[in-house]
Amino acid sequence: MPLIDREHRIVDGRRYTYACRSVDVVERRGFRVEIDIEHDLAFFRVEGIAFCVTNICPHKREAKMYDGFVADATVTCPFHAWRFDIRTGKNVSGQAGLCTFDVIEQEGKIWVSVPE
Ligand code: FES
Repeated sequence: MPLIDREHRIVDGRRYTYACRSVDVVERRGFRVEIDIEHDLAFFRVEGIAFCVTNICPHKREAKMYDGFVADATVTCPFHAWRFDIRTGKNVSGQAGLCTFDVIEQEGKIWVSVPE
């Protein structure tokens, strides 16, 4: 997906960047968004709530978390099966976890807060 100039908004003093439409993020499937050259992200929905983690697996740096198997609020990397809690980014086996990013949903859009 080509990088685009994205809209921003400030909510409670925090800057959020437009990521995608709410309908793009559904239960049991990841959705990849490259916010900018430094932020390749994977969005998931768990029990109706949208979450965002880095799309880069901490094991071998493969950019495929969005394509992992999703079950019980976890996503399993398709390469070597490291498994992470989507809500916290924690690795369920205690190894390195995924970075998480704050998400809000407003007016049918998903916004994410990433460091500038
Ligand atoms: S690259 Fe994800 S588990 Fe190895």
